[in-house]
Amino acid sequence: MAIVNINKNDLANVDFAKKSLRSHFSSLSSDLNRPVYYHIHTYGCQLNESDSEKMIGTLEEVGLQEGTEEQADVIVFNTCAIRENAEDRLFGNLGVFKARKRENKNLLIIVCGCMMKLQENVDRIKKSFPYVDIVFDPQQIHNLPLFMFDKIGRKKQLIDITEEDYIVEDNLLPVKRARKFRALVPIMYGCNNFCTYCIVPYTRGRERSRDFNQIIDELKELASNGYKEVMLLGQNVNSYGKGEGYDKSFADLLRAAAEIEGFSRVRFMTSHPRDLSDEVIDIMATYKNMETHLHLPVQSGSDNILKAMNRHYTRDQYLRTALKFRERLPEGSISTDIIVGFPGETEQDFLDTLDIVNQVKYDSAFTFQYSKRPGTKAAVCPNQVPQDVVTERFGRLLELQNDYVFKSNQAKVGKTEEVLIEGESSTAKDILTGRTRSNHLVNFTIPEDFTINGKLVSPSNSDSGVCADSFEGKLCNVKITHSRPFSIDGVMESIIDG
Ligand code: SAH
Ligand code: SF4
Ligand code: F3S
Repeated sequence: MAIVNINKNDLANVDFAKKSLRSHFSSLSSDLNRPVYYHIHTYGCQLNESDSEKMIGTLEEVGLQEGTEEQADVIVFNTCAIRENAEDRLFGNLGVFKARKRENKNLLIIVCGCMMKLQENVDRIKKSFPYVDIVFDPQQIHNLPLFMFDKIGRKKQLIDITEEDYIVEDNLLPVKRARKFRALVPIMYGCNNFCTYCIVPYTRGRERSRDFNQIIDELKELASNGYKEVMLLGQNVNSYGKGEGYDKSFADLLRAAAEIEGFSRVRFMTSHPRDLSDEVIDIMATYKNMETHLHLPVQSGSDNILKAMNRHYTRDQYLRTALKFRERLPEGSISTDIIVGFPGETEQDFLDTLDIVNQVKYDSAFTFQYSKRPGTKAAVCPNQVPQDVVTERFGRLLELQNDYVFKSNQAKVGKTEEVLIEGESSTAKDILTGRTRSNHLVNFTIPEDFTINGKLVSPSNSDSGVCADSFEGKLCNVKITHSRPFSIDGVMESIIDG
């Protein structure tokens, strides 16, 4: 399997397809006497969210407007294969589109993302969902216009799954970012780790890093366009630049990102415990715009299970790394991913997991019940753990972990925290929401007499309440007054920038 670097010339036919689509949708819009709408469902991780931002950029470039699922003339399902329930959701949702397809003869149904890299899912679509128009894999989002152009005017389902792994630099694709203050920036694609439970190496292909200078150019442009938070993305960011022909490491990239003027927060995801370097921890402690939150998925606290998972670290090595981070960044936070019920997991293995939770005291955690992924090594292990045992262990883990989340929130009470404002809270209009450097979720109010540049901004002093838009992306100090099970409350003290 080859890794292919796509350049501008390779996209000439895509550009041609875009042009043709623009005129196609423009005349369709005149015929319908309304805009032509798209709607996109994104499942899974931030890499998928980033891919969707690019597909949305592309769809808008060819003249479509975002609409509801009911309005949509082009509907995209960007799928995830990480666990069985993610897959079930897609097939559940696709069913209703049979009738929609009859009602709207222009409707284009597109299914892409990680699930489509797996033959059994493509076969199921061919057999049970013949009204799906286009199927392609996550490696090929840059080819979306080609597929749409090819499909329009032909009856047959279009299925295109490549064997190749591409690097397409972000500047070659239009991106419409979901948030105006936050930019997701993939720095690498794929994964070579082959953890035995995980489907990602099969869906996303071999690990490949983007060009260092291209990433830095993109980051500089984002900063100059007013983006305040950048999230560097990869399945295994510590491996950035490990391929042939690279002379920069993840630490080099992180440092360069933190040094770019304009970013209030530099974040990254995900760090593999095996190769998190001291240098990276050092950078997190040194630069004031680095988040002080480390996502360090442990998966299990048992050496036997870690070995069977092919994680390449022992519980002691993991603990050393986590505790080193705690020592260097006492105000920082650690989150993790844990799988319960990996094949062969005994009660003692599970107790080892609870023990590591007790030692690291995770500030937050994503906990998962093991899901058998056909094609992975673990799927054929004979000693699968019975569901009732998994459910029972999962409950115990949640109870313990939730207690640490609450304690972590409690420890913030009375402190003044630097918060990056994300917008207005979903529950109340006069409450703003944001995150601390340590990634704690904060809901906070603005005091009655609060002024910015001499103007009162308190919700009760303005007719329309807090204008969340004007605060989005700003940094402020918030005095933490109260803790809840999964968030903290506070009152704004001062605006740091803006
Ligand atoms: N690259 C990241 C993880 C990406 S997948 C890393 O290595 O840390 C996100 C999380 O999904 C994993 O950390 C794991 O906890 C969970 N996961 C992956 N495959 C799974 C499976 N088959 N069953 C249950 N959880 C799984
Ligand atoms: Fe999956 Fe492991 Fe790769 Fe993470 S590092 S994506 S868990 S194979
Ligand atoms: Fe899912 Fe693919 Fe991400 S399997 S978690 S969308 S890389």
